[in-house]
Amino acid sequence: MDIAISSAAATGVKAGTLVVGAFADGTLTRAAEAVDQAAGGALSAALKRGDLEEKAGSTLLFPALAGVAADRVLLVSLGARTALGDRSYRDALSGAGRALATGAAADAAVALVEVDVPNRSLPWRVQNAARLLADAAYKFDAPRAKPPAARGARKAVLLVSGDATGLDAAVRTGLAIADGMALTKDLGNLGGNVCNPAYMADTAVALGKEFGFDVEILERADMEKLGMHSALSVGRASYSPCKFIVMKYSKGGAAKPVVLVGKGMTFDTGGVSLKPGANLDEMKYDMCGGGTVLGVFRAVARLGLPINLVGLVMAVENMPGGNASRPGDVVRSMAGITIEILNTDAEGRLVLCDALTYAERFEPACVVDIATLTGACVIALGAHASGLFANDEALAAELLAAGQASGVRAWQMPLWDDYQGQLKSNFADMSNLGGPPAGSVTAALFLSHFTKKYKWAHLDIAGTSSVSGDAKGATGRPVPLLAEFLLSRSETAAR
Ligand code: BES
Ligand code: MN
Ligand code: ZN
Repeated sequence: MDIAISSAAATGVKAGTLVVGAFADGTLTRAAEAVDQAAGGALSAALKRGDLEEKAGSTLLFPALAGVAADRVLLVSLGARTALGDRSYRDALSGAGRALATGAAADAAVALVEVDVPNRSLPWRVQNAARLLADAAYKFDAPRAKPPAARGARKAVLLVSGDATGLDAAVRTGLAIADGMALTKDLGNLGGNVCNPAYMADTAVALGKEFGFDVEILERADMEKLGMHSALSVGRASYSPCKFIVMKYSKGGAAKPVVLVGKGMTFDTGGVSLKPGANLDEMKYDMCGGGTVLGVFRAVARLGLPINLVGLVMAVENMPGGNASRPGDVVRSMAGITIEILNTDAEGRLVLCDALTYAERFEPACVVDIATLTGACVIALGAHASGLFANDEALAAELLAAGQASGVRAWQMPLWDDYQGQLKSNFADMSNLGGPPAGSVTAALFLSHFTKKYKWAHLDIAGTSSVSGDAKGATGRPVPLLAEFLLSRSETAAR
């Protein structure tokens, strides 16, 4: 989507749709007030009739109004005036974005960034508006016999009055994040027959070429040499060989890099510990951690952030077969720690542990891994927060704050030694299975054995990276959280 700043007056701006806001108590925002006056009270009359639902993000479309240059006016609810905050502001923008994405207008003028969200600056409001509108316009390019007719706004201006300095940069940032999310969503939404390990590797290589950063693909033989027997054990029975993707973006001078590690399970059947059939198609989303790393690289590279960033994605397919790992197999990880595979469906930790060991060579400022790791995390936190685990409290606080600022939140869970006993094995240093209690904690604890040499955080995105049901699809989360984290790190560095 093409988004720009404009200082035009709401009533005079030429656009397919003009978007203005109202609160649940019937109060109009300044732009809505101007429109209402020009149009003989059409908006306030509709509000009095109760035509607009109170919930933030509800919309009501008016055809051409007298005294208003735009072809249509879309009135959006901002919810209760006293409850105005990040959440209702974002809901209003998302609601407007959804209506614009399916509406008849080809372009829009949006007069919502002037809403005075408590404790949030105008650049923050602009960045979020640009991201949410662009993200709402995302459409997966599904391979259909007949491509559907293109519909929805492809251009928007954000109306502001007064000083607009710095706002173009805020628009660019929002658009770059949405663009990164779109890549993450595309990779997630593709079937496992298309988005296999080689496809992820090719996508990373193409990204590196487009933006001029280094990408190296380590093949099975390279991984063998490194001693990544744990990761390789997961991909053994697939006809698509494992790819270990190493991306290096270096615009931060001598600073130590942040390393992002993604689980790129392009399909997770469970292996010999085969998963049940219900909703098994959704295991194509098991590469969303890796997809997130690629999406963040796209956003960061598009913005040219002055940072050093390394991305490591273990792209693997977990299949059953004559050559597959069996429960009871013992493998040696790159770190030398031996692992008894009690359940071949607990494969995420088996691939991540070797990537986390590989991360040591970059002498990282910190490492953040992103993985659709456990069903237990979906039970614990549902679709609204990713699970956050960290061996460093300052890093955890930074990520939680980035979650708040971006509205794509995480919630911290414990990494206490108390749970360690659940990973005991009689036949190896540890097992890959912690049993039903606290499944996301024991999975994170397993990883913590491989992250002792640096500051580390783990995001379990099993519940947040995709949605089921009618709106089934990848969400692009947590790209905004990580982009915000890196943006605020680069701002701190610049100061
Ligand atoms: N990819 C799954 C986790 C998952 C489950 C992601 C549901 C998204 C939705 C992971 O590899 C897995 O199978 N985990 C097992 C671990 C168990 C065997 C210890 C699980 O959560 O059941
Ligand atoms: Mn699994
Ligand atoms: Zn998995």
